[in-house]
Amino acid sequence: MIDLEISPATYSDLDAIHRLEAASFPSPWRREFFESEINGESRLHFVARRGGTIVGYVFAMWFFDEMHVNKIAVAERERRKGVADALMQHCLEFARENGITTISLEVRQSNRGAQAFYKHLDFDAMYVRPRYYPDGEAAVVMVRQLRYED
Ligand SMILES: CC(C)(COP(=O)(O)OP(=O)(O)OC[C@H]1O[C@@H](n2cnc3c(N)ncnc32)[C@H](O)[C@@H]1OP(=O)(O)O)[C@@H](O)C(=O)NCCC(=O)NCCS
Repeated sequence: MIDLEISPATYSDLDAIHRLEAASFPSPWRREFFESEINGESRLHFVARRGGTIVGYVFAMWFFDEMHVNKIAVAERERRKGVADALMQHCLEFARENGITTISLEVRQSNRGAQAFYKHLDFDAMYVRPRYYPDGEAAVVMVRQLRYED
């Protein structure tokens, strides 16, 4: 299989990211939202490519010792091949290099697949945020703590 390449997202990736977003989420972000994230301060974003085609992306933000994962998606035909894992490993590497101690995210309560993915990465489900999404669905807040040796 052709190797996966991970790199920071750029403006020229926005159309492909947005197509993937629209195919992956019931309430997708608008394209402008990704554009402002690429522009923003303290933002972290990566795309995964296979054979030059974008097959996944992650958008996160960080503040002092905390990181929040806003978006992660992988093209349907590329799922269960370690793409999201590779994207999250890049985020974890950034977190470790920058002394980040907490990584958090929200996931739809019905999205058992994504919850299993985060559990695989040692995230714990902490609590439920009722009516978090525009259609009224609740979010499960999941957190991973990073520990450093003194
Ligand atoms: C959630 C998502 C990003 C996972 O991407 P992925 O590239 O398929 O995940 P990986 O292949 O890296 O999975 C790594 C491990 O996580 C777990 N995992 C991932 N998806 C899973 C699923 N649907 N069900 C159960 N476990 C899952 C497995 O342990 C998997 O390892 P394995 O395949 O060897 O068993 C992908 O399913 C997706 O894009 N979903 C739609 C968008 C979405 O829901 N995003 C998250 C919103 S919070």
